Amino acid sequence: MAFVASEFMEDLDKLKSEMLGQVAEAADLAALDDVRVAALGRKGQITGLMKSLGQMDPDDRKAAGAAMNVLKDAVAEAIETRKFELENSGIDERLAAERIDVTLPVRPEASGSIHPISQTIDEVIAIFGEMGFSVAEGPDIEEDWYNFTALNIPPDHPARQEHDTFYVNAEKDGHRKVLRTHTSPVQIRTMQSAKPPIRIIVPGRTYRCDHDATHSPMFHQVEGLVVDEVSHMGHLKGCLIEFCRAFFGVDDLPVRFRPSYFPFTEPSAEVDIGCTREGGGLRIGHGDDWLEILGSGMVNPRVLENCGIDSTKYQGFAFGVGIERIAMLKYGIPDLRTFYESDIRWLNHFGFAPLDVPSMVARAQLGS
Ligand code: PHE
Repeated sequence: MAFVASEFMEDLDKLKSEMLGQVAEAADLAALDDVRVAALGRKGQITGLMKSLGQMDPDDRKAAGAAMNVLKDAVAEAIETRKFELENSGIDERLAAERIDVTLPVRPEASGSIHPISQTIDEVIAIFGEMGFSVAEGPDIEEDWYNFTALNIPPDHPARQEHDTFYVNAEKDGHRKVLRTHTSPVQIRTMQSAKPPIRIIVPGRTYRCDHDATHSPMFHQVEGLVVDEVSHMGHLKGCLIEFCRAFFGVDDLPVRFRPSYFPFTEPSAEVDIGCTREGGGLRIGHGDDWLEILGSGMVNPRVLENCGIDSTKYQGFAFGVGIERIAMLKYGIPDLRTFYESDIRWLNHFGFAPLDVPSMVARAQLGS
């Protein structure tokens, strides 16, 4: 077959526009590669044509070869350009999707704060946690037996009257639950379920039917309980003196133990800290006055026996602190009722920054 230069050139032009069309239509990198293989691959169309050059006579071969090189270069370049486009269109899409408008105003600062009650509980936990106590909890609605009887306050005991108990409506069998009047029932629950040695503190809500400037029907306590074979009154004193000094941040705070009575401890002691009212305001520390802040005592052997613990082998001590009271003293909060009013101005003033987490480690590092 004779070589007709003009026809060959026309065919090449057609082929070129076909191939460039395919390159332009390739929707992704895989499709583009198919086009490349079909044109320039080992068995591709252009490669095939190149091979056919060998059969031409030298003059024709020169002209046809030059034209085919132009075609080959044009297709290869188109493929490269398209490849670049396809690769970058992914990036453009991602850039559009992940765009951040740095001119937008930042999110407003969180405006909440930690309530002084929560903060105070966390502080108490940090101090006793350092001494090896763990946190235990119990229900707010409690069986009479746990709140009173097991704590050596039987039904006719006069101490029941001091507790101003809220009773819950009677159940079918006539027995009535109570809103716990103190956190001490958790002592009982813990002694029933855990074996000594026991070393717990129990923060929580407590309830008494009493409401005036210094009493709220709901308030908070932290209970403490230690039961083992060796702990004695000396340990009770050391532990509570250490707590008072750490909590109020006064290293030489005077702490006094005053004989008292609780049915569930024997002997019992109330704990006072030194203060002064000189110059009108109240200041914690050395002075001529005392403030009562804690109830405490050696666990009454009867209470241990009520929980199935051998009182000839085990002994220990317990204490209870009113959270509101120590929070008011430490932070100069004058009125108990304000704790529960949810007044945002009060909360902004007396609240704590969320990251202001109490820790004995931080205290030690600050040397306070
Ligand atoms: N439960 C007592 C109260 O609420 C406090 C207390 C606890 C006293 C433990 C002694 C031991 O008043």
